[in-house]
Amino acid sequence: MVVYRASTTAPVNIAVVKYWGKRDPKLNLPTNSSLSVTLSQDDLRTLTTASCSETYTEDVLLLNGSPSDLTGARTQACLRELRALRAALEAKDASLPKLAQLKLLLVSENNFPTAAGLASSAAGFAAFVRAIADLYELPASPTELSLIARQGSGSACRSLFGGYVAWRAGAHVDGLDSKAVEVAPAAHWPNMRALILVASAAKKGVSSTSGMQQTVATSGLFQQRIAEVVPANMETMEAAIAARDFPKFAEVTMRDSNSFHATCADTYPPIFYMNDVSRAAVRAVEAINTAAGKTIAAYTFDAGPNAVIYYLEEDSETVLGTFYALLESTEGWKKGTNPKSSVQLDEA
Ligand code: PMV
Repeated sequence: MVVYRASTTAPVNIAVVKYWGKRDPKLNLPTNSSLSVTLSQDDLRTLTTASCSETYTEDVLLLNGSPSDLTGARTQACLRELRALRAALEAKDASLPKLAQLKLLLVSENNFPTAAGLASSAAGFAAFVRAIADLYELPASPTELSLIARQGSGSACRSLFGGYVAWRAGAHVDGLDSKAVEVAPAAHWPNMRALILVASAAKKGVSSTSGMQQTVATSGLFQQRIAEVVPANMETMEAAIAARDFPKFAEVTMRDSNSFHATCADTYPPIFYMNDVSRAAVRAVEAINTAAGKTIAAYTFDAGPNAVIYYLEEDSETVLGTFYALLESTEGWKKGTNPKSSVQLDEA
């Protein structure tokens, strides 16, 4: 019995200019471009092994050891595209084994708590797509694969690269220009660090898909965000990264997180992802920056209460020291949870 197999890993990414809003929910096309920083594979990543064989009778996904649903429309869209690309290769070269028609087994492991709201779907779909692309020996670049991963989970398209990554929203109705590109490799700014504070490991209350839908449908502030705020943030952020200007990087990161959560609060009824514990982290970052007399730390929050704090290696002692002291006295923060509190950035 022949089993064909390929394994890959994909890292978590945390956006500093957030994707929030779909202009086409079916193709997962965003209302705006976004930009993220990819975290280290050593700390937060998904490892996925894809295999196929004549003996498999159905497509199966095992996520952290448990059978998981593969029938969702987004997952099916990824599988369909990958199989079509493999079938096209097989049609051109008759010597290739006929893998496109075989059932798949996907075994996926996260080295961090899946339910902790730490962008697990981004790493998950990126690893899922790349593992199958490797198994099928598709001659696809990370940007080409990003077009497929995007259909699984929008933010996943950015996890196909290390370093600093933009997802260009694109303008076409077919989505062929809605893809991820590298803005700068991690080595461009090697002293960047991220501290992850897990305020709650519970699954988020409002999923990103329904939160986005509600925001697009009911928030007036959101219109201003996509027309003016995000385009300006993308431009300033890319210039800040190019110049390794941490205070600018930090300011845009915090402003963009504030803007995203403000549009959530502006929906009807309002959506609150941040809680009192999250707000304590915002105050702590403000206190750190005031005491330092310059901006040395930046907070950002996704669709949940957990904080990600960006800072530079040379400011580790000040930033981590303040947070460790604060965690002692702030109720709600979990200390000593996985993932490691300080995460180094590196290449995918
Ligand atoms: O990829 P999704 O559909 O889970 O949406 C992610 C949305 C945010 O994490 C809030 C922002 C982002 O750009 O990652």
